[in-house]
Amino acid sequence: MALRFLVTESIPESGLQIMRDAGELTVLPTAPNTAELRALCASGDYDVLVSQLADTIDTELLADAKLRGISNYAVGFNNIDVAAATAKGILVANTPGVLTDATADIALLLLLGTARRVVEADALVRAGEFIGWKPELMIGSDVAGQVLGLAGFGRIARATARRALGFGMDVVFSPRPPAERIVSDEELGEFAGKVRQLPWQDVVAQSDYLSLHVPLTEDTRHLVDASVLAAMKPGAILINTARGPVVDEAALVTALREGVIAGAGLDVYENEPALAPGLAELPNTVLLPHIGSATGPVRAKMAVLAAENAIAMAKGELPPHPVNPEALPS
Ligand code: DGY
Repeated sequence: MALRFLVTESIPESGLQIMRDAGELTVLPTAPNTAELRALCASGDYDVLVSQLADTIDTELLADAKLRGISNYAVGFNNIDVAAATAKGILVANTPGVLTDATADIALLLLLGTARRVVEADALVRAGEFIGWKPELMIGSDVAGQVLGLAGFGRIARATARRALGFGMDVVFSPRPPAERIVSDEELGEFAGKVRQLPWQDVVAQSDYLSLHVPLTEDTRHLVDASVLAAMKPGAILINTARGPVVDEAALVTALREGVIAGAGLDVYENEPALAPGLAELPNTVLLPHIGSATGPVRAKMAVLAAENAIAMAKGELPPHPVNPEALPS
């Protein structure tokens, strides 16, 4: 029987073509709602679901699902209840590696953009309010010589560190906050002697810029809450390119409004695509619409990985990028 793939919302042709060549491909014209997705997954008409971050694949959906695998078109997979998938023997796969540099670029863009008030400055020029060079016009913050704290030290955090070192920043990190874990020099590799590992609370207290690079789990939900914000320097800037719920967004709005910290550059939101009340009104923020991986070549590579994962799982094989290899029936 032909391999059958269901894609919830179109992805780049590079991936679609691979699946078309391998079997029968269904691409839904618009993203399904919860009930529609649940019915499609339970129909038995598809071997693999190619899902996206907006598709919630929870215990209820998985209880009825007749699938071999779920190929998430993203490196993050917090939209999927992986434990429930594993219990049902459904493999889950993701798209790591190919979006590392693009996402680190966005972290630096947010850092520089917030530090140098790029959104306010651009708006001023467009409003016709630029009347000439002034000593006090749009004064921002320095980056060189400042401390960048990284929450997490995985692929994207390391790519961010590499860039920040190039900007002359002093990079500190906590590899798995809020827990502590010692990273050996061997594991640090090219970063040994160039970055410093600190306990999470010291990273928070010492950072001029705090950039988040942790997956969303029950341990990292609201990792940055009101108490962490209060422990940051008053001049500090928070950068989030990871997942919105890692930050208590209502607490962040209060902290920005009251000058507890100086600014925030965000690519992700707690209740995406909605913003916390008041966030959009704050001038000391740079707000992007979850575009960390949004370059043409990166999205095309993600589509290829998603397709390769999907084909392997449809055949009953381990995909190239499994999240739960233990789900493969032995
Ligand atoms: C991911 O891959 O997890 C990003 O958030 C979207 O590309």
